[in-house]
Amino acid sequence: MGAWLQMNGGDGPATICTPFEMENGMPFWDLAAQEPRFGNLFDEAMEADSKLLGREVVEECGGVFEGLKSLVDVGGGTGTMAKAIANSFPSINCIVFDQPHVVADLQGITHNLGFVGGDMFVEIPPANAILLKWILHDWSDEESVKILKKCREAILLSKNDEGNKKIIIIDIVVGHVDNKEKMVDKKSIETQLMFDMLMMSTVTGKERNESEWKKIFLAAGFTHYKITHTFGFRSLIELYP
Ligand SMILES: C[S@@+](CC[C@H](N)C(=O)[O-])C[C@H]1O[C@@H](n2cnc3c(N)ncnc32)[C@H](O)[C@@H]1O
Repeated sequence: MGAWLQMNGGDGPATICTPFEMENGMPFWDLAAQEPRFGNLFDEAMEADSKLLGREVVEECGGVFEGLKSLVDVGGGTGTMAKAIANSFPSINCIVFDQPHVVADLQGITHNLGFVGGDMFVEIPPANAILLKWILHDWSDEESVKILKKCREAILLSKNDEGNKKIIIIDIVVGHVDNKEKMVDKKSIETQLMFDMLMMSTVTGKERNESEWKKIFLAAGFTHYKITHTFGFRSLIELYP
């Protein structure tokens, strides 16, 4: 961080890469793809988080999944969150969509869970609902709008939706006060800001407050959204076309 700040603090041209890229010679996602030890460690960290949050999501947010026939977990890693949803909602056909090297050796263990490799900036498989857990905070506004537009195309192409098309986002909404009017505690705010620094230094992303989220939703063509649940320092947002 020190070397990066010195390079970007003067009058000269700022570097366009992140501190992570400056230190490692390549962006975060390239290193995760090229160095299996690093990539697997990261996937395991995501699995641990999704194990914890997956339980809460299916126990507390059942209504969010009601009536859905299909769901794609975009950037779903090794599938821990999708497995929790597929097990609790057997009538939802769940697909984990991630980079080919992440899902290459994975197979669904239940009838309603499958894995597909691809690039979310190119094409996302159609489904009634798209889940984006801990995805958009990895990306800049411009990149996030591109991902959201691809998600919108995917839900608009889906069939058997009975008018139930949405994007489900689980991410930080900085400073959000939940509908029980409970103040966000000091530790949660500190954690949110720490993640903001982490995202800015490792990838091209950042944490967003509600009005920053709204700006990218509207830019991607969505018409309305609801922040329906809060889990500690993260929230669940439902986004509609
Ligand atoms: C922060 S992790 C979140 C994983 C999972 N959603 C979770 O919360 O446990 C971001 C995921 O996005 C995936 N990813 C990155 N670039 C991608 C791309 N272009 N297309 C599809 N997935 C991508 C990564 O491989 C990684 O699994």
